[in-house]
Amino acid sequence: MVSRYQKSEAFLERALKTIPLGSQTFSKSKTQFPLGVSPYFIKKAKGSHVWDLDGNEYIDFISALASITLGYSDPDVDAAVKAQLEDGVIFSLPHPIEAQVAEQITEMVPCAEMVRFGKNGSDATAGAVRLARAATGRDHVLVCGYHGWQDWYIGVTARNRGVPAATRALTHIFNYNDISSLEKYFKEFKDQVAAVIMEPANVTMPLKGFLEEVKSLTHKNGAVLIFDETITGFRYANGGAQEYFGVTPDLATFGKGLANGYPVSAIAGRRDLMKLMEEIFFSFTFGGETLSLAAASCTLNKLKTKPILTDIAKTGAEILKTTEALIKKHQCEEFLSVSGHPAWSFLVFKDAPDVSLWHLKTLFMQEMFSRGILTFGGHNLNHAHSTQDTQKLSQAYDEVFSMLSLAVKSKDVKKMLRCQPLEPLFKVR
Ligand SMILES: Cc1ncc(COP(=O)(O)O)c(C=O)c1O
Repeated sequence: MVSRYQKSEAFLERALKTIPLGSQTFSKSKTQFPLGVSPYFIKKAKGSHVWDLDGNEYIDFISALASITLGYSDPDVDAAVKAQLEDGVIFSLPHPIEAQVAEQITEMVPCAEMVRFGKNGSDATAGAVRLARAATGRDHVLVCGYHGWQDWYIGVTARNRGVPAATRALTHIFNYNDISSLEKYFKEFKDQVAAVIMEPANVTMPLKGFLEEVKSLTHKNGAVLIFDETITGFRYANGGAQEYFGVTPDLATFGKGLANGYPVSAIAGRRDLMKLMEEIFFSFTFGGETLSLAAASCTLNKLKTKPILTDIAKTGAEILKTTEALIKKHQCEEFLSVSGHPAWSFLVFKDAPDVSLWHLKTLFMQEMFSRGILTFGGHNLNHAHSTQDTQKLSQAYDEVFSMLSLAVKSKDVKKMLRCQPLEPLFKVR
C-alpha cells in the first residue's frame, strides 16, 4: 500500500540533507511526529484547515503552535499586511506603527504601561529577565513553564547542551500550584532573586489564591514578577491571563497570537521598569518590522471589536465537555484526561498498566492524522474552528478512544502501531 505521506517522507529525506532536523522548530520536527504515520510538511492553510504535501486535508488543532487565533490567512489581517507592503517593510528610522501597536497593547493589557517589540517569544522572555536583573542588581531567576530557547532558561531543561554551567546555576524551576517550592528558593537564594517568571497557567489551572500568593511572595522578596503570556496573551482574554485571573504582574511577555501568526513578540509592563530598557541592551534590526506590526494592529483591533475570544472559549468549553464524556464512555479515565483553559486545552496521557503513555500517544496521533485531524493531543483553538470541525473531532475521538481502550485492555498496543513510538525527549509542561 502506498503511504498517504509518501511525498512528505521523501521531502523530509531531502530537507534533512540541508537542514538539521529538517525543521526550524523543534515542535514541528520529526522528533514529534512518528515516522511512517505522519505528515511532515504543510503546503497551505485556510481558516482552520491545512493541506500537507501529499494533498491530505486536516482540521488543524495545533494552530501553528497556538500562534493562530483568528484563523489561517485571515482576510482582514492579510489585507492590512498587503497595504503596509505598499509602503515598505523596514526602514532606516522607526515607523509610526510601532507606537500605534504599543498604544493598543497598553489599552488592552492590565500591566502594560510601556511596550517593546521582539520577533519570537524568546526575545521577549530573555529581555524581560535581563530587565529584571538590571532593575534589582540580582542574578537568580525562578521559572515555571516553558520560556524559549535562550541560555538563561533552556539551561535547566533536558536540552541544555552548549549552555555554560555558570548560566545554568542561576535559574531554578519551581512547581506550579506549589507555593512552598517557590518559598524554598527565596530562602536558599535570599536577596539574590531578580525575577519570578512563569506561565500564569498551562495544563493546570491555578488553585485559588496561588497566583496572588506568588505575586506577594515575589514582591516581599524584592523581586520582579513576570508573566510569560506568550500563549495565554490574546488567547485567554483580550488582556491575557492577567486579566482572566485578575492578577497583574510587573512585566509580561507576548508572542504567538499577538499578530495571528506573523512574527512579532512584545514585553510590556510597569513604566518605571520599562524605562530601564533605555539602559540595558535590547535591540535588533528587525524589531520594528512593519508587516508583522500591521498584522498585530489588525488582530488586536479585531479582538477588541468582536467577541472572538468569547466565541473561542465557548467552542473550547464544548470540546472539553464532549471529550470528557467520550473518555468516560470508553473507560479511558485511567490513562487519559483533559485539562486547561477552553482556548488552550490538553489531552493528558498517563502510563496504563503494561502500556506506556508514549505508545498510547503515538497510536493516538497515528489514528487522528489518518482521520484528517492534526493534533498533538490538545486543542489550540482559533476562531475559524467551526461546529462541523468540532463534530468531526468528536467523531474521531469516539473511534480513537475506543481503540486506545482496546489497546490497554488487550495490552496489544504494539501490534496496532504502524511505526516506532515517540520517545520522551523534551517535556517542559
Ligand atoms: C510560554 C512560552 N514562552 C516562550 C516561548 C518561546 O517563544 P518562541 O518559540 O516564539 O521563541 C514559547 C513558545 O512556545 C511559549 O509557549
